[in-house]
Amino acid sequence: MSSDKTKHYPVMLNQILSIISPQHGGIFIDCTFGGGGYSRAILKYPNTKVYAIDRDKYTQHYANHLVKKFPKRFTFFQDKFSNLSKIIKSNLSPRAIIFDLGLSSFQLSDFQRGFSFKSKGSLNMQMGINKYSAYDVVNTLDKRNLAKIIKILGEEKDGQIIANKIVKYRSDKPVKSSEEFASIINDAKKNFNNYKKNPATKTFQAIRIFVNQELSELILGLTAATKILSDGGLLIVVSFHSLEDKIVKNFFSLYSNSDKNPSRYLPLNENKSDLFRLFLKKPLTPNKKELLENNSSRSAKLRYAIRNNSEFYYPKEFQKKFENYLTIEETRL
Ligand SMILES: C[S@@+](CC[C@H](N)C(=O)[O-])C[C@H]1O[C@@H](n2cnc3c(N)ncnc32)[C@H](O)[C@@H]1O
Repeated sequence: MSSDKTKHYPVMLNQILSIISPQHGGIFIDCTFGGGGYSRAILKYPNTKVYAIDRDKYTQHYANHLVKKFPKRFTFFQDKFSNLSKIIKSNLSPRAIIFDLGLSSFQLSDFQRGFSFKSKGSLNMQMGINKYSAYDVVNTLDKRNLAKIIKILGEEKDGQIIANKIVKYRSDKPVKSSEEFASIINDAKKNFNNYKKNPATKTFQAIRIFVNQELSELILGLTAATKILSDGGLLIVVSFHSLEDKIVKNFFSLYSNSDKNPSRYLPLNENKSDLFRLFLKKPLTPNKKELLENNSSRSAKLRYAIRNNSEFYYPKEFQKKFENYLTIEETRL
C-alpha cells in the first residue's frame, strides 16, 4: 500500500482480486494488513472469511473497524508473519495467503517513526515487535558489521565509506534523528554525483531491513505459508526491492514444476518433490492506470504460485541459499 497525499492505494489490488476470485468465497490470509486495503476488498464478497496479521500495533485501529463490521468473518492478530503456522490452524485450507511487503504509507508518513529522510523525529524505524531500533544500530554497532549490513542489505557499494563517516560522527555525539542520519550519508557520498534517488536511499533500506529482520521474516513467512496451504491454495507475494524479489523468485523456482533440477551438475542436497505449480516465471507489475494514480507502486512486483498436493517438507535448500541474510540479521549489537 502506498499513498500520495494520504489517499489509500492498496498496490495491485485488481490483479490480486482476479487471481484469488473472492466471489467464489473461501478463507483468505492477509499477512500484511497495513491499512486493510486487501482485507476490506475481500470482505466485500459475502462468503469470504479473512484472517489478517500485522506486526505494527497502530494497524489495530483499522482492524477494529473491520472486526466491528464483520465480527464473524474477520479476525486480526498483531504478530509477525514468521509466526504464521503458530497463529493459523493447520486444517484451515485457505484459498490464498497474501504478502504485500515493506512499509505502509501510514508508517512512511509518520515522521515520529523515523522511516523518512525528512524525519526530525527519533531514528527509530521499528515496524513493531522489535529487539532494537535504528538508533541502537547506528550508534552502537561496530564499524565492520555496520559496513557489512549497509553493503549487503542495502546493496550499497560505498558501505565502508559510509560506515567510516557514521563512526567518526558518533564519536562526538549520537546520531539522533533520521534527517541527521541522512545528512551524514549524503556527506559520505558527496563526491559521487548523478543520483536519481536520494543518496541515502540504500543505507536507509539496509538499516530498516536489519532493524525489522525483514529478509528472515520473508524466508520464514514463505516457509510457514507453504506448510499451511493445501492443494490448490495460492501463495501471492508483492515485493518492492530486488532482495525481496530474489528470495521469492528463488523459492518458487526451487519448489515448483518449472525448474525441476536447477543445478544440473550439482547433486541436490535434499530429495525434493515439487510443492507448487507455477504458471508465470515473470512477475506481474502495476498497469499504466495504477502507475499514473500511485507513483509509489512503480517498483512493485507480484509473483504467485499454486500449492500442489505434495506433503510439506522443510525447504532446506532454500534456507541454505539465503543463509547469509539469516546470519547477518542475527548480528548482535
Ligand atoms: C505495504 S503494507 C500493506 C498494505 C496493505 N496491503 C493494505 O492494502 O493496506 C505492509 C504492512 O506489513 C506489515 N509487515 C511488514 N513486515 C511484517 C511482518 N514480518 N509481520 C507482520 N507484518 C508485517 C507492516 O507493518 C505494514 O503495515
